[in-house]
Amino acid sequence: MNGKPLLRLDDVSWQYESGRRPALSNLTLSLYPGEVVGIVGPSAAGKTTLLLALSGLIPSNYTGHFSGKREVEGELGIVFQDPETQFIGLTVEEEIAFSLENSGRPDEEIAQRIDEVLRLVGLEGFAPRSPFELSGGEKQRVAIASALAHRPQILLLDEPTSELDPKGAKDVFHLLQRLKQEQEIAIVVSSHATEELAQFCDRVLLIADGRIELDLPTRPFFGEIEELERHGILIPDAVLLYQELCRAHLLQKREEGVPLHVEELAAWCREEGIGPGGRKQT
Ligand SMILES: Nc1ncnc2c1ncn2[C@@H]1O[C@H](COP(=O)(O)OP(=O)(O)OP(=O)(O)O)[C@@H](O)[C@H]1O
Ligand SMILES: [Mg+2]
Repeated sequence: MNGKPLLRLDDVSWQYESGRRPALSNLTLSLYPGEVVGIVGPSAAGKTTLLLALSGLIPSNYTGHFSGKREVEGELGIVFQDPETQFIGLTVEEEIAFSLENSGRPDEEIAQRIDEVLRLVGLEGFAPRSPFELSGGEKQRVAIASALAHRPQILLLDEPTSELDPKGAKDVFHLLQRLKQEQEIAIVVSSHATEELAQFCDRVLLIADGRIELDLPTRPFFGEIEELERHGILIPDAVLLYQELCRAHLLQKREEGVPLHVEELAAWCREEGIGPGGRKQT
């Protein structure tokens, strides 16, 4: 990557006050403008802790031992796993306005921003609704709208779809995809939804035991099947099917690596003349 990173951790380690061992060990990581980075890892691996360290909430809002360096260039927004616990507004409008309250902006500009971010997340007309009386996916989108109201260059999201049904999860990932394309925001998202991460991220990190085990562009990342399985990471269907087809010598291993979605694998199969009824005889 060229240019200066927006956000950088340099040899960061962190141990919670009550922790028996470091939750993060010697993490070095750079985030560049417009980049979308996924974080996967087993439970208790340190995903949430890493996002807190990226945001700066660790060490500022937590007690424990921090070492290393954090450098940040841009404005930053963070969305937590369960946004409801953070809501304080009686209406969606108020909720987003609160997040701008200390910015000293005139009311007119605040109203404009609220309209803008609600449109961005597809919640036009939701301004007067209670944020508590929304579906899980809508709540998550209100939280994303609040974070976007500051026009951050970096958006951090901790498992934004883990509480949602498949439709709600898909909506949130579609929204993130749009933000990536239209707003050029750098996004860091932790998730167990590897199917979505495979299609959406530029780069993925595997965290285990507070360490970065893998940090690779998405395609080579999902090619590390054994390493991912060793850590209990869900392998996307397209990758598993590709592996089976290669093992059965129905498909040649591709130079570019594994497929990132089923449509891509289907196209490769068509190229090799594999279709219903098996391989065409030549
Ligand atoms: N506030 C805290 N005080 C002490 N220890 C904590 C605290 N929060 C997390 N930990 C510990 O730090 C380690 C990493 O936790 P973290 O929440 O970052 O994991 P995670 O990868 O987000 O897990 P999950 O997938 O379950 O959300 C765990 O061992 C956890 O017990
Ligand atoms: Mg977590």
